[in-house]
Amino acid sequence: MKIEKTLQSRIREIDFDNISFGSQYSDHMFCSEYIDGKWKNSMIKPFGNIGISPVSLVFHYGQAVFEGMKAYKDKNEEVFLFRPEENFKRINRSSIRLEMPYIPKYIFMNGLKKLIDIDRDWIPKNYGQSLYIRPFLIATNGVLSAKPSKNYMFMIVSTPADIYYKHPLKIKIEEKYSRSASGGVGFTKAAGNYASSFYPTRLANEEGFDQILWTDSSSHTIIEESGTMNVFFWLKDKLVTPKANDNILSGITCKSILSLAKEEGITVEERNLSVLEIIEGLKKGELKEAFGCGTAVVINDFEMISYQKNNFLLPSVSKKEKISIRLKKRLLDIQHNLSEDIFGWRLQLKKNS
Ligand code: PLP
Ligand code: COI
Repeated sequence: MKIEKTLQSRIREIDFDNISFGSQYSDHMFCSEYIDGKWKNSMIKPFGNIGISPVSLVFHYGQAVFEGMKAYKDKNEEVFLFRPEENFKRINRSSIRLEMPYIPKYIFMNGLKKLIDIDRDWIPKNYGQSLYIRPFLIATNGVLSAKPSKNYMFMIVSTPADIYYKHPLKIKIEEKYSRSASGGVGFTKAAGNYASSFYPTRLANEEGFDQILWTDSSSHTIIEESGTMNVFFWLKDKLVTPKANDNILSGITCKSILSLAKEEGITVEERNLSVLEIIEGLKKGELKEAFGCGTAVVINDFEMISYQKNNFLLPSVSKKEKISIRLKKRLLDIQHNLSEDIFGWRLQLKKNS
């Protein structure tokens, strides 16, 4: 792999005490090209604009998939990636569904490890802070016909990250718009999934909600996920989450929470969850907690769920008793190498490895 380092690091420009998600990018980026059926030209170079044709397929037909993952530091400034193999597998599930090429493991992992090693000073040190890493694959063929591209570019960039939401969220159960449909691409991290959610999310924001709680597209009676989060409900002393299907992105944070909860002896259920059950639970006081989880947000409580213009507040539970707080701490402790890695989730990146 060719490595071209920047002559002028921008690291002094960043205020690690005031990080705004996605506003500043680390010094370098990784690039690899897929041309005529072969991966070539893998390299790390200074972060900057790329030159591709205005008629590249990515701009017109949305052939683009991405991932989101994080690197953390421990107290000794050792660096750890969290479950990177899961992101490697998922980007390929996404790329196959979007008729894009399979990204070989050596390209994904070597590019990732080398890039984060070179830009390790960009990883914030405080608890809960991290370097958010964005691998993505785009179609670069400059031909306007509506068919899969021949050429692609796989890239990785990264941005220092702090707590994503600084408050509990007000959530609206969506009954008109849909994020995904059976047989579609909801289970992938296709860029278009995000574009199509912006309009209904803006409408919900204007009504005073932070995020939408998506429901199934045919009946709007089954809970799916929320914004860029999978969702959990502490309902009748069980931790319930919608079972991943082809409408739902199977989250790595969600999977990790399920493992941690099971290990703690909490009863967990992955199953179909109806809107009715949630509303009944809220009315009867049987739904004690609700939260979203994802790489960017980690775990974030919901404080209100709205359905058909009725706003239901979640009961107030002391911080000591909150399942969400306990699980978030367990997860972050593992991510920051503060507790034993019982599940083998951390990948340490030694300096100059
Ligand atoms: N659902 C959607 C739509 C997302 O964008 C994300 C974020 O990546 C998640 C769920 C959570 O997935 P993960 O925990 O792997 O980040
Ligand atoms: C993630 O949590 O990795 C996401 O994809 C969120 C991002 C769209 C901001």
